[in-house]
Amino acid sequence: MTHIPFEVDLEADKKYCWCTCGLSAKEPFCDGAHKTANTDKRSLHFYVETSTKALLCACKKTQNPPYCDGSHNK
Ligand code: FES
Repeated sequence: MTHIPFEVDLEADKKYCWCTCGLSAKEPFCDGAHKTANTDKRSLHFYVETSTKALLCACKKTQNPPYCDGSHNK
């Protein structure tokens, strides 16, 4: 399956929770699905200092979470 990053608008100083398990129905953001799945993964909390567009990783292989670093192409 080919993954492409999610383009999202992020607001300054708002708390975001990026899904790390890939089970969320609200990707790229966490919906709590990891809590009932057989996984030890947890959401990654992050903020941005200024409102911006961003590409958030969908493949979960990025080395710079939550942002896409092009690893989905490898
Ligand atoms: S979607 Fe690009 S690195 Fe994961």
